[in-house]
Amino acid sequence: METNEKLKSLAKENAAYDNIITRTSIRNFTDQSISDEIKSALLHAGMCAPSGVNKQPWEFILIDDKKILKELSESLPYAKMTAQAPMAIAVCGNSERFLDGDDSTLWVQDLAAASENILLAAHAFGLGAVWTCLYPHDDRMSAACRILNIPEGIIPFCLIPVGYPAKNHAPIDKWHSDRIHNNSF
Ligand SMILES: Cc1cc2nc3c(=O)[nH]c(=O)nc-3n(C[C@H](O)[C@H](O)[C@H](O)COP(=O)(O)O)c2cc1C
Repeated sequence: METNEKLKSLAKENAAYDNIITRTSIRNFTDQSISDEIKSALLHAGMCAPSGVNKQPWEFILIDDKKILKELSESLPYAKMTAQAPMAIAVCGNSERFLDGDDSTLWVQDLAAASENILLAAHAFGLGAVWTCLYPHDDRMSAACRILNIPEGIIPFCLIPVGYPAKNHAPIDKWHSDRIHNNSF
């Protein structure tokens, strides 16, 4: 098995891999604003995620109104950093595009993939971001619905504050070769 150091040197040769292994959650932001082009690119990255039966069951709320960002921060104890961010994206599920039967919860995996794409795109543009949890906490979801005027059938999944990092953060080293099982557990 490769060593951590060897993998890091591989990242130097591959920008996409480097972006994945150097991403880390950022919770402190400067007040620099984000261009409309980059905002759209982050949303596009979310929409490029894979989804079960290609249902693309997501909706995105782009929030760049300071008053709304502050209101979200005051109502969501685990997303306090939102007040400091120049923007946030609420990733939501549209139940009209959820699958049935055994696949009825696949939308959660679809939205997780979209959320991770947004985090990675933010990092690629030199931005910082953090996934803050809404679903499945009723109190957080209803606060988001109230503040963002989310209609019935649309389920707030997570809120991602985004901004230019106030300082550099080293990524957490998560390489654990003992978690890898060859051919059988
Ligand atoms: C499902 C999920 C929920 C999370 N919820 C929160 C949250 O509510 N607030 C927060 O500050 N970070 C939250 N995080 C970020 C994690 O704390 C973070 O990803 C983890 O500590 C690993 O750090 P890293 O992202 O820097 O690798 C969440 C991440 C995930 C994937």
